[in-house]
Amino acid sequence: MEQQQRQVGVVLIGVGRAGSIHANNLVKMPEVKLLYLVDIDIPRCEEMRAQYFLNDTQITTPDKLDDILPDNRLDTGLLNAH
Ligand SMILES: NC(=O)c1ccc[n+]([C@@H]2O[C@H](COP(=O)([O-])OP(=O)(O)OC[C@H]3O[C@@H](n4cnc5c(N)ncnc54)[C@H](O)[C@@H]3O)[C@@H](O)[C@H]2O)c1
Repeated sequence: MEQQQRQVGVVLIGVGRAGSIHANNLVKMPEVKLLYLVDIDIPRCEEMRAQYFLNDTQITTPDKLDDILPDNRLDTGLLNAH
């Protein structure tokens, strides 16, 4: 029987130019689950979430990072902010 592999949970911090390139790559990887988008610019996060139909992805601001770090689905993060 085929076993379903657990997805790698990712937080993307910064959704500007570099963040967008990463997002564009990450959404093509079935083994990756983009759990969180973090930026000071919430509308930009919402735009990205809509663009990629990331209905389950949560959006938050950097001051709330401590709140998401205990999420045990989270494995890694990509930092693309100044
Ligand atoms: N990892 C890479 O491959 C790669 C490639 C190019 C650039 N970079 C680096 O990524 C960083 C961003 O570059 P860019 O060209 O995407 O810039 P950008 O201005 O296009 O995007 C930066 C984003 O960071 C957000 N931001 C600012 N302060 C923040 C904070 N405290 N917490 C979270 N988000 C915040 C901004 O709102 C913006 O959306 C730079 O440091 C750059 O050197 C990384």
